[in-house]
Order: sequence, then structure tokens, then C-alpha cells
Amino acid sequence: MPRELAPAVCRVCEGNVHEFLDLGRQPLSDAFRAPDDDTEEFFYRLAVGQCEKCTMVQLTEEVPRERMFHQDYPYHSSGSSVMRAHFADVARRFLATELSGPEAFIVEMGCNDGVMLGTIREAGVRHLGFEPSGAVAEAARAVGVRVRTAFFEDSTAAQVRAEEGPAQVVYAANTMCHIPYPDSIFRGVDALLAPDGVFVFEDPYLGDVVAKTSFDQIYDEHFFLFSAHSVQTMAAHHGFELVDVERLPVHGGEVRYTLARAGRRTPTPAVAALLAEEDAAGLSRLETLRGFAADVMRIRDDLVALLRRLRAEGARVVAYGATAKSATVTNFCDIGPELVSFVSDSTPAKQHRVTPGKHIPVRPPAAFRDPYPDYALLFAWNHADEIMANEQEFRRSGGKWISYVPTVRVS
Ligand code: SAH
Ligand code: TYD
Ligand code: ZN
Repeated sequence: MPRELAPAVCRVCEGNVHEFLDLGRQPLSDAFRAPDDDTEEFFYRLAVGQCEKCTMVQLTEEVPRERMFHQDYPYHSSGSSVMRAHFADVARRFLATELSGPEAFIVEMGCNDGVMLGTIREAGVRHLGFEPSGAVAEAARAVGVRVRTAFFEDSTAAQVRAEEGPAQVVYAANTMCHIPYPDSIFRGVDALLAPDGVFVFEDPYLGDVVAKTSFDQIYDEHFFLFSAHSVQTMAAHHGFELVDVERLPVHGGEVRYTLARAGRRTPTPAVAALLAEEDAAGLSRLETLRGFAADVMRIRDDLVALLRRLRAEGARVVAYGATAKSATVTNFCDIGPELVSFVSDSTPAKQHRVTPGKHIPVRPPAAFRDPYPDYALLFAWNHADEIMANEQEFRRSGGKWISYVPTVRVS
């Protein structure tokens, strides 16, 4: 049997993973390149499947973590005012609850530029961030946050426990889903967490991805797509229990999962409610995920047809937001500079580079405004409210937005 046809093995329970969507050869989603870089680009096969045993949705091929998270990792969490407000709120809620005692200590994995821990630091509460990507870790340090430039895993977590004592909270935002080695993570959390502590993580929600056909949430860094069902199973596998869930509007729809050691806390009614919702939607059934895959093909066809028509009409089309997500869209749909002349992005680390795979130039927002294009393809659709509020002049100038989530439309 050819290697790619052998079922992948579930990274949670070792069951068989059945592939339901193949997004083809893809570059690393955050590997923005210098325009004159002629070194060979790294590609891998992006396909996603579901475990027949524990239902976890996951990639079938893993990219080595050092290829993704290194000194020049360009994603800065503080680039969105909505996300800054979101994480200040997360911090304030922890400060008012789990971290209200005198010995309070919180550890965050994937603290990035300190967008959440900055508020914890201002409150004078003990904290430590794990952040393997050098430049963003330095940005966190620059705002006074304590950071280890290291991957969170069993050994690094145990070291912190020995040196600094137990944590009341271990937190991770948009990071647990990046980690294809949950066994090591749970061993680390178990070593670090106080007996009644909580392990809280928030990530893109499978239910939203399926409901909105937001297939661009699938890329190298997003190894898992969680649901309440699969997280409950994963927690139980490691002696933990899912005790609360909260749906979040950020990043196109996420869920915040709160885990405690089994039997330590009473699950809130929200857990049973979300599990029931998932059952009603058939979210754990492979058939539902195959239906999602068919919707993805339709969106690709509609988007490519629209962009080709606009090119034939001579319209000026650019894109907005050089997201990691957009690597999946451009490479799967074969959208290059001939269809979208550049991508506007506010992140200095991405500007004057080209996008992975399709090599679309990335320009600062000033290029978007001078002159405004006829159409802007909204790659950062998850930040639509913030962007629409800041770019009202674009519409007034006659410009139109193109979106592809949940369907392709011009507005
Ligand atoms: N929490 C931020 C950043 C999310 S991006 C936010 O929600 O905006 C994911 C981050 O996790 C990256 O900065 C990456 O370097 C980091 N990361 C990846 N693997 C990690 C690991 N094993 N331990 C700690 N951080 C990790
Ligand atoms: P985001 O959707 O947060 O994440 P990912 O890369 O994981 O898909 O990325 C948003 C990108 O859009 C980021 O590069 C910053 C950029 N951006 C702008 O250019 N202008 C804006 O107003 C906002 C909110 C983001
Ligand atoms: Zn499994």
C-alpha cells in the first residue's frame, strides 16, 4: 500500500485516523520570504482526518515544530485591538477567581508577545510564559513579562514546578491545537498544576469550522481541531475532566475548555449542553465531515471563478491581512499575484516579504490606501468588525469586500 494511503495514527489514543479532506501540497503558513530568496521552499501534504475511536480531528502529517516556531516566527498577537481587549478580559477574570490567593501563580504556554500576561504582570501576580519563538518572546520581555524561550512539555514543566512551586492556572490560547504531542503536555500540566488548579485552553472550534466551512483554519500549525466531545475524551485519557466550556466569538469562533483533575470540580451545565448540541449537529460523525469537505470544494470553485472574472474585467484586486490561514486558501485554490496583486498587512515582520508558496507581495497598509483598489479579498475575515470600522473610507471610495466565509460573496 502506498505510504499516504496507510491510515494515520491518532496522536491522542492511537486509533485509526480516517482522512476526509486533502488540501494538497502546502508550504509553512507563516514562512514569509524575502522576495529575492531563491532557496528551496519546504512543502508538506496537508490533509485532515478523524480518529475512529476518540473522534479527534487532526492532521495526518506532522511538521517538525522547530520549522514553524523559531526566532523569526512572525505572528504578533497584539496586532488586533479586539484581541488585546479579549486577553485583558481573560487575565482580569483569572485575577478575580483562580489567582486571588496570596501564592497565586499562572503559567501560559504560547504567551507570544505577552498579550495576556501583560495584564497579570501589571497586577503584580506571579507568572511565567513559555514561548519558543525568539522574537515574540523578546517582545513579551520588553513589556516586563517573565518568559522562557522554550517549548512547554513534560521536562520543561517539571523543571518549573521544582523551581517555582505549583500553579493555580495553566493557560494556553491558540496553542494547544498547535501541539501534536498531548501526552507530554498533560504530563507537564499534571506535574505543574496545584491539586485543585485548572488547565484552561481556547482554540478554533470544530463546530464553527464546519458550520462556516472555514477550511482556512486548517494549516500546519493547527494540528488539532477540537470539539467538546474530543476534548472530553482527551482529558479523561490523562486523568483530567472537562468541567466547563465557553463559546468565544474571536478568530471566527472558538471554545474555551476548562479542565481539572478528575473528580475535583463539578462540571457546569454548559458542558452537557455543548455535547448535546454536537450530537444534534452530528459533529462527531465522519459523514458530516465528508459533507464539509464537499462544501470546501464548492467554495474554492466559486472563489476562483470570481477572481478570474474580475481579472478579465480589468478590476484591481488586492487582499487584506497576510494571515497564516490564507496560505491554505492561496495554495489550495492556486491564487497568486496574477489574481491578487498584493496583500496589505500591519505586521512589520511580514511587510516587504512574499507569502508562502504563492509569493504574493506583502505591503504595509499605506499601500492599500494609496490608491484604494476596486476589490479587497478579506483574508483576515475573523477580524472583520475591527477592519471594517478602520477602513470605512475604502467603501466610500467605491471599493468592495470579497469574503469566502461562509460563502463567496461581494459586499
Ligand atoms: N497565545 C497567543 C499566541 C498564539 S500563536 C494568541 O492566542 O494570540 C501560538 C504560539 O504558541 C506561538 O507563539 C508559538 O511560538 C507557541 N508555541 C508553539 N508550540 C509551543 C509549545 N510547545 N509550548 C509553548 N509555546 C508554543
Ligand atoms: P490572524 O487572523 O489573527 O491569525 P492567523 O495568522 O493565525 O491566521 O492574523 C491577522 C493578520 O492580519 C495579521 O498578520 C495582522 C493583520 N491585520 C491587519 O493587517 N490589519 C488589521 O486591522 C488587523 C486586525 C490584522
Ligand atoms: Zn483517537
